[in-house]
Amino acid sequence: MRYEVVAATGPVLEQVLDDTFPLWNDGLSRQNYGRQWVAQLKTPWGSAHLDRVALVDGPHVVSSAKRYDLSLRLDGRIRRVLGIGAVFTAPAYRGRGGARELLARLLETAVTEGQEFAMLFSEIAPAFYERLDFVPVPLAEWTIEVDQKRGGAPAMLVRTGDERDLHNIVEMSAARSAGARLALDRSEDFVRFNITRKRLLSGLSAPGTRDTEFLVVEEGHQAVAYLVCTQQDGRWVIEEAGDRDPAGARLGALLQVMLARQPSERLPEIRAWWPQSLVPPQLRVAASTPTQEVLMIRPLKDRMLPLPPLAAEEVVFWHADYF
Ligand SMILES: CC(C)(COP(=O)(O)OP(=O)(O)OC[C@H]1O[C@@H](n2cnc3c(N)ncnc32)[C@H](O)[C@@H]1OP(=O)(O)O)[C@@H](O)C(=O)NCCC(=O)NCCS
Repeated sequence: MRYEVVAATGPVLEQVLDDTFPLWNDGLSRQNYGRQWVAQLKTPWGSAHLDRVALVDGPHVVSSAKRYDLSLRLDGRIRRVLGIGAVFTAPAYRGRGGARELLARLLETAVTEGQEFAMLFSEIAPAFYERLDFVPVPLAEWTIEVDQKRGGAPAMLVRTGDERDLHNIVEMSAARSAGARLALDRSEDFVRFNITRKRLLSGLSAPGTRDTEFLVVEEGHQAVAYLVCTQQDGRWVIEEAGDRDPAGARLGALLQVMLARQPSERLPEIRAWWPQSLVPPQLRVAASTPTQEVLMIRPLKDRMLPLPPLAAEEVVFWHADYF
């Protein structure tokens, strides 16, 4: 019997959430894990660009996945891309081709919907996805050290970011990715979605365990640099950041301001999927390693040539954009 692909809603969604919760709960309770998903779908970007699908065998959920409708700038052209996340097969069905079948059907649908590429992050050995013609995109994670300013934090106006800053952030993002061969094309709704997603995760976590900061440097009533950072267990992940000035000095100073608030004996470890073209003078790259989750991509139509190999320095992909 051929399995059927259905939208994961109602009891199917509850089954998918029950199945995937042990693996991807991020420390949330089961109830908050469900709330986090539903809340993402209520955002303007999420409601139009995100859903979850399941391959079902009658009443049983075999496999499931998240689908994102992304916009990618690739070699100077904007492409609609299917983003695939959270591919999961119920343990009782593993090794029977469920995941492969679901992926094949998602790729088929994507072609008919006009998407030109598919992308995913592999948390498993990439061979499984390579057999489906996905190729890895090199992506580096940096551990960053900030030169701490002696004599106090730099004097500049730093405040919490909000709605009015989004258009400046989109401009900074676009300028940064203009020189890259591969970067997401980030709209205001998409940036808002990513920040909301991080805040939701912090807000739904046990109090005091996880925090999200969204800070901007303001000059002339405009955000001229910004940073979104999640903080947990003494580790900071810079989710995304930008500076109107290509040298990034205000972004570096923003990090100095943040660190000046920290007690000096407890300096955080700072990590980021930082674009290699942006190294503020106050920053030192202490380590660079390939990201644990492997970004992979494939064209959806045969008539398109395979991608020429990409180098990590040609890719801009913030941790905030991880899906
Ligand atoms: C990975 C997963 C989705 C595969 O689902 P499935 O329906 O069993 O997959 P299929 O039957 O279509 O294909 C089986 C193939 O998956 C691959 N595979 C399964 N688990 C794997 C793993 N942990 N690492 C690498 N490859 C794996 C193997 O190549 C396997 O081939 P084999 O049966 O010849 O050994 C499933 O094992 C799962 O849900 N794992 C937990 C969640 C997860 O890690 N998801 C991947 C996120 S990127």
